[in-house]
Amino acid sequence: MLVKRAPDLTYADVTPKSIYTNRRSFLRGLLATGGTVTGWKRLLPPLPGSGPGSVPVKLDGVVRWPYSTGEKQTSYNDVTTYNIFYEFGTGKKDPSENAKNFQTSPWSVSVEGEVRKPRTFTMDEIMKLAPLEERVYRFRCVDTWCMVVPWIGYSFSALAKLVEPTPKARYVAFQSYYDPRQMPEGKYSGMVLPYVEGLRIDEAMHPLTLLCVGMYGETLPNQDGAPVRMVVPWKYGFKSIKSLVRIRFVEEQPPTTWSMGNLQEYGFYSNVNPNVDGPRSSQAQERRLGEYFRRPTLMFNGYGDQVASMYDGMDLRKYF
Ligand code: MTE
Repeated sequence: MLVKRAPDLTYADVTPKSIYTNRRSFLRGLLATGGTVTGWKRLLPPLPGSGPGSVPVKLDGVVRWPYSTGEKQTSYNDVTTYNIFYEFGTGKKDPSENAKNFQTSPWSVSVEGEVRKPRTFTMDEIMKLAPLEERVYRFRCVDTWCMVVPWIGYSFSALAKLVEPTPKARYVAFQSYYDPRQMPEGKYSGMVLPYVEGLRIDEAMHPLTLLCVGMYGETLPNQDGAPVRMVVPWKYGFKSIKSLVRIRFVEEQPPTTWSMGNLQEYGFYSNVNPNVDGPRSSQAQERRLGEYFRRPTLMFNGYGDQVASMYDGMDLRKYF
């Protein structure tokens, strides 16, 4: 296969030809002609098991980010078979099994709200907006497991600057894709979907906050949030929203999926903090996938030098 450099890559290029040229997707393409993405999705009857899905494809031209952790990386197998993606089921193995046919092309992300230049980015544009960097981050989930993952993407601020947030933008609200026909397990998740998350504007603009389009040298597998997700390494994993379709700059603190409904024990900030217990258990220790022994949890997941000053003067037991 001819490998193109990232700047020359179109998002269609990252869906293998054998898949996107199959007969059904060709028919779907015909139906799509002249319609918007949501428009044609509404027109189509469900075709179980027939979607082109997206299979991870090598990303070329990815530059090394100089601040990556040198710690042992978690195996690709663990990171892609032990997931939380409630739209595809609540078991840790469910997303890898149920997201196989998730259609992630075409894809676009709308950016709106308190911005001077609202805009919808196609996935092609997102892939080329800034140099793609490989950033190896520690990633900590709330149920005490954690991992070390070579994510690929760039600082979210690169996208945010293009839309020029106004002084009224104090928070950023994120929304995931949700289509009950592609994600039939979602309705049994007990969650209000689409999945929504939020960050304070300074957190969103922090250079560590990653707009993520790949991992382990390739585009994202469906179960890990294809085609584009957030990764916020000093916060519990649920802040790192998957399969993003909408970003809104807002004045007020936005609602978040885990703090809505019966799940009010989850705070808005959700900074990794060994001193504040989680909803079900102590967060003082953690276990890396693939390891047996537990380790002590680090404040801000070990990123305190970079991020702690954003919370100066805040009682982190209250704003957990
Ligand atoms: N995003 C969406 N849309 N739906 C989800 O269920 N789960 C969150 C987060 N993003 C979730 C989501 C939680 S609880 C975690 S821990 C991480 O994704 C898990 O990411 P991973 O499966 O890639 O490890």
